[in-house]
Amino acid sequence: MPRPAPKSFHVKSFGCQMNVYDGARMAELMQAQGMVEAGADEAELVLLNTCHIREKAAEKVYSDIGRIARRDGGRPMIAVAGCVAQAEGAEIPRRARAVDLVVGPQAYHNLPALIAEAAAGRVAVDTDMPVLSKFDALPARRSGGPTAFLTVQEGCDKFCTYCVVPYTRGAEVSRPWTAIVDEAKALVDGGAREITLLGQNVNAWTGEDEAGRRQGLDGLIRVLDRLPGLDRIRYTTSHPNDMTDALIAAHGEVASLMPFLHLPVQAGSDRVLKAMNRAHDVGSYLRLIDRVRAARPDIAISGDFIVGFPGETDAEFEETLAAVRAVGHAQAFSFKYSPRAGTPAARMDDPVPAEVMDARLQRLQALLSEQQFAFNRATVGRRCAVLIERRGKLPGQMLGKSPWLQSVLVDGGAIGDLIEVEIAAAGPASLTGVRTERAAA
Ligand code: 5AD
Ligand code: SF4
Repeated sequence: MPRPAPKSFHVKSFGCQMNVYDGARMAELMQAQGMVEAGADEAELVLLNTCHIREKAAEKVYSDIGRIARRDGGRPMIAVAGCVAQAEGAEIPRRARAVDLVVGPQAYHNLPALIAEAAAGRVAVDTDMPVLSKFDALPARRSGGPTAFLTVQEGCDKFCTYCVVPYTRGAEVSRPWTAIVDEAKALVDGGAREITLLGQNVNAWTGEDEAGRRQGLDGLIRVLDRLPGLDRIRYTTSHPNDMTDALIAAHGEVASLMPFLHLPVQAGSDRVLKAMNRAHDVGSYLRLIDRVRAARPDIAISGDFIVGFPGETDAEFEETLAAVRAVGHAQAFSFKYSPRAGTPAARMDDPVPAEVMDARLQRLQALLSEQQFAFNRATVGRRCAVLIERRGKLPGQMLGKSPWLQSVLVDGGAIGDLIEVEIAAAGPASLTGVRTERAAA
């Protein structure tokens, strides 16, 4: 049934930082159409920016749709975006009739037209993956807080056998050099002091600079390092096989490149890694970490792990624990294997029983938490800069990030300040810092 076009919107993003970035850009796009941001309970359009990486994440969408459709303020227009939209497309409004609009991650620049179509009473679905970059069709970036995400690369050609990303996000595409530099400048003009470069395989980014020279992510980092007002650069997520010598060297040479590396290994058994089609083994991964640490000795290492991949034995899981011990993580994410339709692993025999998976995940997470706490304790007594991001829970308390991406509670300072602190105490998940006299530039 036709209805008035929505004048307000609410975006709810799930999953990875790429979705957070996409959610922000969709919000900017709707604002450029004159729509205003509103709470989930009163917005005339609620957009769920979904994640398809594991079954639990994907199923959550349907319970959310039901809840939104029944909310007190009356049923809003409901849009489903993100990777579930890409994977399930027109199936979504068939299964959940309250859904008015479905838009994939490569098509969201068409959102205004899709909203108009839905307002005219037609279910609007767009899951095209046009070669023409959506980025060109989006309005310029607007100011945000002191930290910002900037997508430089999308998609994945690695085809790990468990993963839906190559299907939902498509093939690896790098955004052009100048588009990225311009967007970074706009973010800095809007108040960003830290930019995190995003990509499903961010370290596979490649392009040409203004002079037509071929560049890798290290080149991009070096040019952004020279941007006045940008104090901190981070990047995520990387694949071990795209960790070039030049990028490793940048970690030792570029002052604004923060000492933090998220470099998933996924498992510690060479047989499992092969079955995952990871194209690296444990030995090559550990040698890589050694080289990164030689370039930047204090670097914080983060990773992702999957337990219970089909056929994983107890002994193979022990190898994962051994690899974790060999690395020493500042933080890490770990997940139970979740079969995803259409991926090669979903057709593999020998599933690991749920209770075995649970027990393995518990042991792995206990070890990773122990490592995180040890890493935090090792920073006590150090002086470092903290970028204040938001208020803490107590009056006057502020929360910021250390160079190693730890949360640091400090007394005083304002959002956007980069202050010098001495780390006074460490907890399992955060630090307490005391301001020292000298303010960082
Ligand atoms: N099951 C469990 N975890 C998965 N990941 C990706 N696909 C799956 C899956 N099918 C994890 C990987 C990846 C992270 C983003 O999610 O560890 O690095
Ligand atoms: Fe998925 Fe592997 Fe690509 Fe990462 S590298 S997005 S895990 S296929």
